[in-house]
Amino acid sequence: MSIHKKEIKRVTTHVLQEMKRNGEKIAMITAYDFTTAKIVDAAGIDVILVGDSASNVMAGHETTLPITLDQMIYHAQSVIRGVDRALVVVDLPFGSYQGNSKEALNSAIRIMKESGAHAVKLEGGREVKESIERILTAGIPVMGHLGLTPQSIYKFGTYTVRAKEEDEALRLVEDAQILEKSGCFAIVMEKIPAALAKKVSETIHIPTIGIGAGGGTDGQVLVYHDMVGLTKEFSPRFLRRYLNLFDDIKGAVENYIGDVKSRDFPNESESY
Ligand code: KIV
Repeated sequence: MSIHKKEIKRVTTHVLQEMKRNGEKIAMITAYDFTTAKIVDAAGIDVILVGDSASNVMAGHETTLPITLDQMIYHAQSVIRGVDRALVVVDLPFGSYQGNSKEALNSAIRIMKESGAHAVKLEGGREVKESIERILTAGIPVMGHLGLTPQSIYKFGTYTVRAKEEDEALRLVEDAQILEKSGCFAIVMEKIPAALAKKVSETIHIPTIGIGAGGGTDGQVLVYHDMVGLTKEFSPRFLRRYLNLFDDIKGAVENYIGDVKSRDFPNESESY
């Protein structure tokens, strides 16, 4: 008897770079748990980001700052168990890489060793260059993140569009080139003008993944909870909601409560 296991071509960092060369857009979404990872992987997503946005949407914190390295590893372990095809990238959380490059390397190694993830992401430009290079010495792929960097929210004070002024835009272009030269395999660009994101995407050779950065990037990323409407309060203009799960689930739970109270549930066919 032969067992035919279906061949699945996994997405690797090289596949993403090939996609950029071929002009094929990259689709990325966040996931923080096994069940969601299974669904988005089955749908054919290219990249799953175990984002530190888990701090907001899973734990209810106001910012991404409180989530710990241990908590990120727990989320990443759950996601990895649900994935057959997608590339899984895990955010290095605030405080796990800014101290020095050795700390950054140790944090990245813990994520890779304890979760089985495929790459890490960190926020910042030239100021994290040394850390990126050190992480790469261990053979760990690194994704960069420029523009709105939520871990620095208290430095900027707002979540408004970044790099609208010429000097900041110029600095962002330079930072993207520095990240590429340092060895990043891709860069997330968050909430920056579409024209600037397009210019960066045409200037560098590694893929750019935009969120609130227009259609000129090589790929797009959305936070799963926002995209399926599990969150209600967060409505930036870049967000396209494909479902309204908050209302749908609330309605279903209201129906269930009603059925229990009225003794309609369970009925005879639902009993032993
Ligand atoms: O943590 C996250 O979800 C992110 C995306 C917004 C890119 O970094």
